Amino acid sequence: MFAAAALVLGGVFGSAMAQGLSFRHTVTGEDLKVLEKAPEEGRDTEAVKHFLETGQNLYTEQKACLKAGEEAYLVGCSGCHGHVAEGKLGPGLNDDYWTYPKNKTDKGLFETIFGGAQGMMGPHAHTPLDEQLRLIAWIRHLYAEADPSEAGWLSDEQKANYKPFDIKEHEALGEKAFEGECKVSAN
Ligand code: HEC
Repeated sequence: MFAAAALVLGGVFGSAMAQGLSFRHTVTGEDLKVLEKAPEEGRDTEAVKHFLETGQNLYTEQKACLKAGEEAYLVGCSGCHGHVAEGKLGPGLNDDYWTYPKNKTDKGLFETIFGGAQGMMGPHAHTPLDEQLRLIAWIRHLYAEADPSEAGWLSDEQKANYKPFDIKEHEALGEKAFEGECKVSAN
């Protein structure tokens, strides 16, 4: 049974299945069975394949890729976490304090979103994986600490160019905030 499933999925996920990171529920530690549960749509993008192998999100600070992430955030998360992730019913996601310290990593943040945490923080396993990565990149873009030294999801170059998120500036830019073509590559 498992072998058959691995064969089918292996076709799509070749190397991810082989080296596969294991994704665990943030509270219970259970295997999240990402490849079984995630929708077919949006599984085989470059960014998803790279993420499943490495836990690194290629969409981070790729502004032309973030519009769908902002939309997903506003539809699914801002009601509880606030417009700029400042915190509301759920905790703030734009600062250095994390109830679950693993959310400092993109792999940890993905696990919390995919599998949920406690109480009202339900699972989001039905959201296409590619959209989840854009959503994660958007949450990281909302980061508003003055100093990016704790922002482990940024490369050294991204840290050097870092500016805390400013909603007024973002709104003034309008569509320009996402100008250009969304292109990512692993190197
Ligand atoms: C119905 C309200 C609600 C919605 C909708 C919701 N959350 Fe949450 N979220 C919460 C609550 C409440 C907690 C605290 C749960 C806990 O501590 O286990 C939480 C916790 C979290 C955490 C852990 C934060 C930490 O400090 O470690 C993350 C990350 C998170 N949510 C992301 C999201 C994202 C992304 C979305 C949208 C896809 C979302 N949430 C949608 C209510 C919500």
